[in-house]
Amino acid sequence: MKILAIETSCDETGIAILEARTVGSKLSTVTVRANLILSQAKLHAEYGGVFPALARREHAKAIVPLVVQALKNAELAHETKTPHTLTTKELRTLEKIMHKEPELLAELSKAFTMLKIPKIDAIAVTSGPGLEPALWVGINTAQALGMLWGVPVIPVNHMEGHIVAALLVEKSKVKSQKSKEYDLRSLQYPAIALLISGGHTELVLMPRDGAYKLIGQTRDDAVGEAFDKVARMLGLAYPGGPEISKLAEQARNNADLTQTDAEGAPRVSASIPRESAIRLPRPMLHSGDFDFSFAGLKTAVLYTIKKIPLNPALAGSGEHLAQSDVVANLTPEIKASIAKEFEDAATEVLLAKTLAAAKKYKVKEIILGGGVTANKKIRRVFQEAVAQLPDTRLFLPDRELSTDNGLMIGIAALLRHKPKKHIVAQGTLKLTKSANPTIAELQKKKR
Ligand code: KG4
Ligand code: ZN
Repeated sequence: MKILAIETSCDETGIAILEARTVGSKLSTVTVRANLILSQAKLHAEYGGVFPALARREHAKAIVPLVVQALKNAELAHETKTPHTLTTKELRTLEKIMHKEPELLAELSKAFTMLKIPKIDAIAVTSGPGLEPALWVGINTAQALGMLWGVPVIPVNHMEGHIVAALLVEKSKVKSQKSKEYDLRSLQYPAIALLISGGHTELVLMPRDGAYKLIGQTRDDAVGEAFDKVARMLGLAYPGGPEISKLAEQARNNADLTQTDAEGAPRVSASIPRESAIRLPRPMLHSGDFDFSFAGLKTAVLYTIKKIPLNPALAGSGEHLAQSDVVANLTPEIKASIAKEFEDAATEVLLAKTLAAAKKYKVKEIILGGGVTANKKIRRVFQEAVAQLPDTRLFLPDRELSTDNGLMIGIAALLRHKPKKHIVAQGTLKLTKSANPTIAELQKKKR
């Protein structure tokens, strides 16, 4: 079964083509023929976050060339000498699907009437959660291609995509550079997923296959959002997660290299006096539930920055310092120290809550999903902690599959969802009990 998968929920246009092989009724091997990601992060950088109208425009610019490129990579793009002419009915349906995107419609019709219908069995597309204007670009494209190629379109919950990304284990490097092969692990239940991204911080209990129960979530900012906002306060680029992580690692390395002081306490860096060693709160660590809060942690960073004695060179600026002056007042050592303490604080809370939930629900497996799982410190700490639990395994996505991508959407479609005729963007779509595994259904039908 070959799937074209489309992801446009945020600021990455992700297009993947994957092929799944089944053994018995189980999916076992997935060959990835294409997995293209075009990030708009640089464009959004000046807003310090993702700007929905801009995201939509950029997805609309990128999507057709990326699908064509993915088909080429998968050797499924074959030009035809007799371009497919659309019937009036087909044209009307396409116009209806794309009535808000006439330029995209023109580009799409031009590109795909020149190509033979590719051997694709289904199209998977993220239908939510995410930014609705951005989601619509993917959904409309998927529905238009579904109509042109006569194949079903499967809506996918983005968060389920992040969960299943952790089930992929790359097989030893395959001969061809063009495709990658993965084994698809199966989960044992009950399991728990910690979903940490730019828009979500959730603990989800999975009592059995395809069933989800939200047992905890952030009451304010998502953890990725907090990484991004703290990075902005420190004058770092967007997205801030990787930047904070780099600085934090630097601070850790310095701390390892620096001698302890006279009282035996480690010093983060020789240039930061011990009295100013930065300490941030661990919000809701002892709240007794599985909820999180990261807005307070972010505000604590702000107060910490404001308390740092003013560099004499900036003293003339008076009480109301501009953001750029505030950033200029921070030495690289102080920035690194704040980044490290912030990362430590966030990690500690995420780990403690996840372990407590794992214990309470006696889970066999813990899954981590979402962009923030690219964080090396978080990965390390979870690996070390779960290794101590005799009956629990940890599943982490490969770092390159942590952030948004089309492949995870294709996998979720293969495993769970049913095709739908009319798909609607749902910005706040929740994880709910989903349909029976599609593969099993397809096989039943064949028998
Ligand atoms: O899952 P994702 O790609 O998009 C959403 O669905 O939101 O997650 C993006 C988030 C951003 O907030 C980004 O800063 C964060 O993931 N992120 C990281 C790292 N890499 C990406 N956060 C911490 N450490 C990282 N290395
Ligand atoms: Zn995501």
